[in-house]
Amino acid sequence: MIRMEGLTRKFGAVTAVNEVSLQVDRGDIFGLVGPDGAGKTTLLRLACGLINPTSGRVTLFGGEKDTGSFGYMPQRFSLCGDLTVIENIEFFASLYQIDKKTIKKRAGEILELTKLVPFKTRFADALSGGMKQKLALTCALVIQPEMLILDEPTFGVDPEFRKEFWRILYLLNREGMTIFLSTPYMDEAELCRQVALLDQGRIVAVGAPDQLKKQIKHKIIEIKADAKDLDFLGELPEVADASFYGDRYHVAVLAVEPAKAAIASVLAAKGITVSITEEITPSMEDVFVSLTEKAVSMAYGWVPQDVA
Ligand SMILES: Nc1ncnc2c1ncn2[C@@H]1O[C@H](COP(=O)(O)OP(=O)(O)OP(=O)(O)O)[C@@H](O)[C@H]1O
Ligand SMILES: [Mg+2]
Repeated sequence: MIRMEGLTRKFGAVTAVNEVSLQVDRGDIFGLVGPDGAGKTTLLRLACGLINPTSGRVTLFGGEKDTGSFGYMPQRFSLCGDLTVIENIEFFASLYQIDKKTIKKRAGEILELTKLVPFKTRFADALSGGMKQKLALTCALVIQPEMLILDEPTFGVDPEFRKEFWRILYLLNREGMTIFLSTPYMDEAELCRQVALLDQGRIVAVGAPDQLKKQIKHKIIEIKADAKDLDFLGELPEVADASFYGDRYHVAVLAVEPAKAAIASVLAAKGITVSITEEITPSMEDVFVSLTEKAVSMAYGWVPQDVA
């Protein structure tokens, strides 16, 4: 559906997207995952053709003109605050010259899907953050696109809403929609079929989440601690990185047994009692940290596995 070859986009001295080659296939749920300023928005805007690359090439739908359609939900969607939910949908659809009868039918279906029916006549300004995002999604769906391109659609909204939003995405995907989205949340990366990790404009890794977890050189040991500061573990020569992870620590190591011994001895010397669990399957956050050797900001509070 989308092919990017050696895509680069500069803004003055800043290289926002640097030599990116990627392919999004039909039926994918493809996630562009990276921290603030990684280049996600720029890459999605290049994919949509909203901006031109400095060099490289993007091809949509195999390069044949008018063969496909996509809906785009920008990071900062400007809904009309003084229009109601249904009026926003009608307004958006009218930009595509869709006739009134068709708009009415489609609006009914997607409002049902996004459970916005009870809020149909509410002004967009009076919606919660999560509902605004759903309305923006609804507007992107009104043209019945083959592909959805979504820029951080769940940013800043609560965990319950994020789950619901992902349920809608899975539903659409099961009906055949290709989804290309960006997210700063590593837990959402777990929900994508394919993930591209983006850092400073460059692709750090691409693959299915399970593949990426096997590729990293570090093993992860999990330590359960009752909110003690264990950052000093990162200073041990056996430990590559130690990071706080909700109510526990994840320690990235090259060799599990020597690291466990070193950790146990330093904790004992300090009189700290914690439970060290065995090596665990890395999370996508661990993958990102291992590949970029950088800490990432994460949102906690929900379990991605129970969405799909
Ligand atoms: N129009 C622009 N003019 C100048 N610099 C820009 C422009 N758009 C993006 N940049 C720069 O390019 C880099 C990548 O920005 P981009 O918005 O693509 O990142 P992002 O991953 O979407 O970040 P965020 O998570 O904050 O949305 C940043 O350094 C940004 O300041
Ligand atoms: Mg962005």
